[in-house]
Amino acid sequence: MLHAATDNLVSGVIGECGGDVSCATCHVFVDPDWFDRLPPAEADELEMLEATVEEPTEFSRLSCQLSCTSETDGIVLNIPESQ
Ligand code: FES
Repeated sequence: MLHAATDNLVSGVIGECGGDVSCATCHVFVDPDWFDRLPPAEADELEMLEATVEEPTEFSRLSCQLSCTSETDGIVLNIPESQ
């Protein structure tokens, strides 16, 4: 989903590391109605979520770790204001 955002010039999604799970500039808040439909975050993503500019919430994910699939078609992601 990082590349969907950057390819479409979505403001606030930067992706400095290109999806290497080492920058947290792709932080998003997943709409609560969608959050449980996603595969759980791996340990490296959870660790990097502790380094986000804006305080993470229970709905935080790194967009570089989310895939665009038929299951996520229509997902709602919100960009942190301070990112
Ligand atoms: Fe760097 Fe997601 S793009 S952690």
